[in-house]
Parts: sequence; structure tokens; C-alpha cells
Amino acid sequence: MYFWNSLSSKYLAINFVFLLVSVYASTKEEDPMIKKCEACRNIEERYREGLKRTAKGNYGGGNTNWEENKLGSYALSETRMTEILEYLYKIEDKTAHSLLEQFEDRIENFWFKHFVKKTRVDFFQYFCITNAKVCCPKNTYGPTCQPCHGGKERPCKKRGKCIGEGTRGGSGKCNCTDGYVGELCDECDVGFYLGYKNETHTVCHLCHKACKTSCTDNTPFTCDECGQGWKYSDEYGCDDINECSLGNPCNGNFRCKNTVGWYECHRCDLSCDGCTGNGPEKCIRCADGYRPVDGKCSDIDECAENTDDCDTEVSTCENLEGKYTCKCNEGYVQDKNKDCIKKLKDISLKKKKSKKSEEGNDKRGLLVYFFILTGIGTMGRLMHGYPPAVAIILLWLGGYTFWFGSENDSL
Ligand SMILES: *[C@@H]1O[C@H](CO)[C@@H](O)[C@H](O)[C@H]1NC(C)=O
Ligand SMILES: *[C@@H]1O[C@H](CO)[C@@H](O)[C@H](O)[C@H]1NC(C)=O
Repeated sequence: MYFWNSLSSKYLAINFVFLLVSVYASTKEEDPMIKKCEACRNIEERYREGLKRTAKGNYGGGNTNWEENKLGSYALSETRMTEILEYLYKIEDKTAHSLLEQFEDRIENFWFKHFVKKTRVDFFQYFCITNAKVCCPKNTYGPTCQPCHGGKERPCKKRGKCIGEGTRGGSGKCNCTDGYVGELCDECDVGFYLGYKNETHTVCHLCHKACKTSCTDNTPFTCDECGQGWKYSDEYGCDDINECSLGNPCNGNFRCKNTVGWYECHRCDLSCDGCTGNGPEKCIRCADGYRPVDGKCSDIDECAENTDDCDTEVSTCENLEGKYTCKCNEGYVQDKNKDCIKKLKDISLKKKKSKKSEEGNDKRGLLVYFFILTGIGTMGRLMHGYPPAVAIILLWLGGYTFWFGSENDSL
């Protein structure tokens, strides 16, 4: 009963997240035509492997004259083609498999019309581009293999990738390389400046790190605005601010260290109350429970110096780093006020135990949920081809609920 109640509210919420994630993932699915061309490339690769395998150690790199010498009539035989076809069908990818089923006769045609006759027609061109019509020639895209944006010669002015390039899918638009933007990737992105430009070539460079946004060259003098941690001076342009010299921005037992563009806070030694560097000898003042000895802060042994306030009747002083504790003697326990009192036989121990087993029960419940979620993730990936990211998110959610779910579960 406890188990299901504790699951219901929180885990319904998690299921809702799962639903959103799966809806989002299905809308972000890869372009199916791009996927088909990828599958066809795999078929081509496998076809070449098939040629190699059937050459039985006499592979001539697809050179039919050479292979005929070594393999005799088998080289151009139907038997060899059938063996290659069988090898192709062992491909695991579903998309590739259905392409093979749909266009099996074209592979036979290719074998007899082109491979056997040595026409030099390429398998990829014949099968993937001309017949299955799932791929396009280089630098073209889409159903009719149009030129990519920017043209076939220099698509996206060679500063980006044409989306769907070489496939029957995509948009032909440019996905620009870092630093470049614009329809043809011939403009500089924010944080970059133009180095060179003519009709065909654009070269952008990264601005100096002192700049917040744009600039016109690589010095700190031409920033439109100085970045955070930098301040303009006529001498240095955008210049690093020494934040540490502006009063210690680090609170508590930390020291400030200036860095380029910003500053860091480093923890001082435990024995310090403020410091100028690492270690107990770099303290400005000593922390409570420490005093300077030979140029560094050392722990005070309160027990040895009898400055402790332990009640020696019932406890024993024990020195610790920077403090001391009063340990109760045999037969005594500490009460709420940290005083040592005589030990009583107590039923509260039993109570604690039963609470613990309840917690254990809850963990078991979470473990079940962990397996359900990870199971959905795995099945989704295997059966419905969820992208790895979705599967990972599900696995993560499963793990999360298992490890952290019990923390604030209440009825
Ligand atoms: C653009 O390229 C980046 C980096 O290669 C990639 O992560 C992103 O998915 C691409 N975008 C599109 C729309 O293809
Ligand atoms: C543009 O610049 C490139 C690189 O310097 C050069 O090779 C090309 O010939 C130039 N094109 C024109 C049209 O000036």
C-alpha cells in the first residue's frame, strides 16, 4: 500500500515528462530521405566487401581483368553475383534491407550490364542515384538533385555544409562553420571580424578575448565593447581588471587570485582566518583554536593545557584539529545538551530499526520503477528506433528516480 501511494504522485509527473520527451523526439526525427541515402551508401560499401570476399584472397580492387585471370570464369558468373547478393541481405539495417528488396533486380542488371561488360559505370551512381533514387551527385540535394545553395562548385562558399548534400532529402540550405553566418556563410558571426573577402572567398577571424561582442581586428583596441572583467584604457585597449586590488571580493576564509579576464577564490588553510597564500604559514590571522607558533598557525591542545571544560567525572577530553571534544566514559551517553548521562535501556533503538526497513521497502519500489523506465528506453531504441539521446534520457530518469527518489517522498 505504502509502495503504490508513494509512487503515484511523483511518478505520474515523471511519466508526463517521458511523454513530452518522446513527442519532442519524434518531431526531431532525421529526414527519412537523408537516412535512405545513408542506407544506400552502406549497401554500396557492403557490395565492395562482397566483391572482396568472393575473390577468396585474390581481390584485385574491383579490377575485372585482373580478377578474371585469377578467378577464371567464376569472376563474372551468376554464382558470384548470387553470393554477393546473399551477403548484402545479411545487412542488419532495416532501411537498407527494404531498399534491397525493392531494387534487387537492379543489382542483377548492374552485374550483367555493367560489371560483366566492364562499362566503368559506378555501382553507387547506378544503384543509389539513378535507380533507387535515394542519393544525389556531389553538392546537389533534394528530389530532383538541385545544386546546393551557392552552386555545385563551391556550395556554401566552402564555409558550411549544405543540408541534405548528396541525398534526395534536405533543404540545400547552408549550415555554416563556426565564425560564419548568412545564407551563403559569407558573413562573419558575432565575435569574429572580417579578414578578407572577394566574390568567392570569405575569411573571418576570432576577436581578441577582451572584446564582449564585435571588433574590427585582433587587438584589444578595436572592441565595440570590453568584455566582463576588462576595462578600456588608452594604453592597453580593453585591459584586464585586477579584481583582487579592488578590495577582496572573496568572502570568508578565501584569498583572491587575479586571472586574465576574471579572478579566482582559493580556500585558505583551515588554521587561518584570511591568508596570502597556501598553507598554515601564509595566514594573516589564526583561526579560533589555533595560535602562531614558529611563524605558522598551530592547533591548540586544549586538553593538555587544561583549558577545556569537560566534566572529568563522566567524560574524557579529546583534542581535535582546532577544537576538542568531551567523550563520555563507559556507561554514559550524551543527551541533547551534550552532557554525559547514565545509559538507560531504551526502546527508541527498536523504533529506529523499523523506520529503516520502511525506507528499504521504498528503495525496492524505486528499483522496480528504475527497471520499468530503463526497459522502456531500451525497447524504444530497439523496436521503434528512438534516437540514442531519448534512450539515454529514459535511462537517466530511471537512474534518477532510483537514487534520489526517496529523498522527499511523502504520503
Ligand atoms: C549543423 O551542423 C552542426 C555541427 O556539425 C550539427 O550539430 C547540426 O545538427 C547541423 N544542423 C542542421 C540543421 O543540419
Ligand atoms: C578571391 O580570393 C581567392 C583567395 O585569395 C582567390 O584564389 C580568387 O581567385 C579570388 N577570386 C576573385 C574573383 O578575385
